[in-house]
Amino acid sequence: MEVKLVKKDIFSLASDVTYLGVFENEKNEELKKADRLLEGLLFEVMKQENFKGKEGELISINSNKKLKAKRLVVVGLGDKKLFNLEKARSVSAKVTKLVKKNSTSISTNLFDKFENREKYAQALVEGFYLASYSFKKFKTKDKEKDKINTLFLTSDGKDVEKAAINGKLVSEATLLARDISNNPANFATPTEISRIAKELARKNNFSCTVFDKKRIEKEKMGGLLGVSYGSFQEPKFLVLDYKGKNNSPVIVLVGKGITFDSGGISLKPSKEMDKMKFDKCGAIAVLSVFTILSKLKLPFRVVGLLPFTENLPGGKATKPGDILKISNGKTVEVLNTDAEGRLILADALSYSRKYKPDVVIDLATLTGACVVALGDVAAGLMTNSEKLAERLIKAGNETGERVWRMPLFDEYSKDVESNIADVKNLGSEHKAGAGTAAAFLKEFVECKEWAHLDIAGVAWATSIPIYFPDYITNGATGYGVRLLAKFLLEYK
Ligand code: BES
Ligand code: MN
Ligand code: ZN
Repeated sequence: MEVKLVKKDIFSLASDVTYLGVFENEKNEELKKADRLLEGLLFEVMKQENFKGKEGELISINSNKKLKAKRLVVVGLGDKKLFNLEKARSVSAKVTKLVKKNSTSISTNLFDKFENREKYAQALVEGFYLASYSFKKFKTKDKEKDKINTLFLTSDGKDVEKAAINGKLVSEATLLARDISNNPANFATPTEISRIAKELARKNNFSCTVFDKKRIEKEKMGGLLGVSYGSFQEPKFLVLDYKGKNNSPVIVLVGKGITFDSGGISLKPSKEMDKMKFDKCGAIAVLSVFTILSKLKLPFRVVGLLPFTENLPGGKATKPGDILKISNGKTVEVLNTDAEGRLILADALSYSRKYKPDVVIDLATLTGACVVALGDVAAGLMTNSEKLAERLIKAGNETGERVWRMPLFDEYSKDVESNIADVKNLGSEHKAGAGTAAAFLKEFVECKEWAHLDIAGVAWATSIPIYFPDYITNGATGYGVRLLAKFLLEYK
């Protein structure tokens, strides 16, 4: 897959498919030209199909050698005032999905319609890459690849070139995240993920240290250990380190890496339990973003802390009522073994102290309650910092990986106080589940700028989505990679 910049008029560029965008009721000179070249066929078809340029409308015409491109696609963009980067991403993805099976190349000049054309160019590149994805690793039949491999942008500007490179980098990292996350728990074990992480580190200019069970015990990470007791798979704790050029600022990224969440002794219902292979998506998003830090030329230090384990029931498993000791010395009463994410994150957040970070951000598929609150439309954001909130919300709006701020009331902290230990891993039933989970995490954070992103609703595409833009494909979404990359690039 690649993006090529060509300084050519859109109609003199030979590609399999060319697409043009049209706003609702727009007088579009380009369209007139296309119609002239197609000897009136375009407007005839548009009339037949009652094409008005509304969002989602699409026309696809075989050009019969009258254009350089074999096929012309015209896409409705809707109301000009409402158009934005997210819609551009979706338009590009829509065309890509339409033609990716049988065409090798797509060309467009759509970005040139806009003031921030470099941002729109990047959005089109992202839509192209993200929509091209499919996961066929475990198919023995139907394995043949889609033909699509090239996107042509009609420009030779430096701004568009940089946008194309960035778009390609963040998209490839997102697809890497999807690819690792889509593996089921019998493949993506903590041990196998550690092996993959080491290999990625070697190739992409960051370091990866893997703590095995012995080292985890030595670090007194009682949360991670306690969750791992029911599983035959050995837990791992990964420390990723990208040193950059300068030693400051230091940003720590933490990710929840539950490779399968059965709930443990507090067993989950079996319906959709298979989806709990995606309970590692937070950690995998962080790992994937590390693969591009060097190519994005980030000047400062980024540290990744990723606890990995399965959460299974068994003769040795942690039981409701058990008390675990987190590596910062605090004790936790485990009232529900299905609230395991916060236990392993507690150890990772505690470990972050060592780096005296300026910012700590954690990503976790933490609560069903967050899905109830926000659906698959945005991740929940809970933070102790106004500044960090602003930055993450802005990065979310630009990338389409939206975040929505939720409160961290002191009352939620009260709600996780335990009678016999320092804290309990459960709040009052059916009340502010996302908030009490975040309040629990807060007990293990010392950093003045900490943000928790609950990505439970957005980490994979569900069977009945509220929001399913065309650049999303079945399975893991890779959510968080583009958000974090944007946040880091804008961080000063
Ligand atoms: N991994 C789940 C959260 C989850 C549920 C993510 C559904 C995506 C979809 C997490 O470990 C969990 O089980 N949370 C419990 C917490 C409860 C026991 C306090 C939940 O949300 O039900
Ligand atoms: Mn759970
Ligand atoms: Zn979980």
